[in-house]
Amino acid sequence: MELARIGIIGGSGIYKMADLKDVEEVQIETPFGSPSDALILGTLSGTRVAFLARHGRNHTLLPSELPFRANIYAMKQVGVEYLISASAVGSLKAEAKPLDMVIPDQFIDRTKNRVSTFFGEGIVAHIAFGDPICQNLAGVLADAIASLNLPDVGLHRGGTYVCMEGPAFSTKAESHLYRSWDATVIGMTNLPEAKLAREAEIAYATLALVTDYDCWHPDHDSVTVEMVIANLQRNAVNAQKAIQETVRRLSENPPVSDAHSALKYAILTQLDKAP
Ligand code: ADE
Repeated sequence: MELARIGIIGGSGIYKMADLKDVEEVQIETPFGSPSDALILGTLSGTRVAFLARHGRNHTLLPSELPFRANIYAMKQVGVEYLISASAVGSLKAEAKPLDMVIPDQFIDRTKNRVSTFFGEGIVAHIAFGDPICQNLAGVLADAIASLNLPDVGLHRGGTYVCMEGPAFSTKAESHLYRSWDATVIGMTNLPEAKLAREAEIAYATLALVTDYDCWHPDHDSVTVEMVIANLQRNAVNAQKAIQETVRRLSENPPVSDAHSALKYAILTQLDKAP
């Protein structure tokens, strides 16, 4: 198996990558069980990449059921250093319209039921997470999207992603609360991924694809799965173009990332004395 330096996780509606060449499907076992699906290794823009359908290719896993640790561990095992997460989100701001793309730079954690660390059981570490997204990777992603001049797609650099537990969507009171916190988008998956990627010293950035206005907007219907999938399908070609151009730029000019040395000062346990 040829290693892949760039990983892509596809969320709801993004179950495969178009234009992958020389595809190899790899079943990976990890100490944390199996990933959501086989990793699909293939060549995109001349570069080896690893793709994973976050919810499985037939969408069989709830956000709360996702094997986040296995997914990130598997990416690390195939050599991934840069991980792009393409994810459907609801918008919490009028200016971030359905079909727009947001590249968040912050998270608020509203999950209740996720394991978001590889540590514990005798090994204690605390990674720095003040800047949870790799800004250099996010910059490459944003520049790649801007260079495509996609018609009718607004690009929003920065913003806060609220990660909720789900699977039910938010109540209106919750949606208004998140707006009062000045949050930009809402989804159910990216925060555990970002934490685990940081612990695995993988640079991580989110390509948030806006599908709806959640349930706060007086002039728009409340979010439904039908709405999410319909808008994602409309956006899928743009998302694939954005990822392809990002991969091309990353392989030409891989950015430095603090994430690549995240564990340097994070581990408190004296490893030679660990159980
Ligand atoms: N994914 C897409 N739209 C969403 C929303 N409104 N809330 C949570 N996750 C979402």
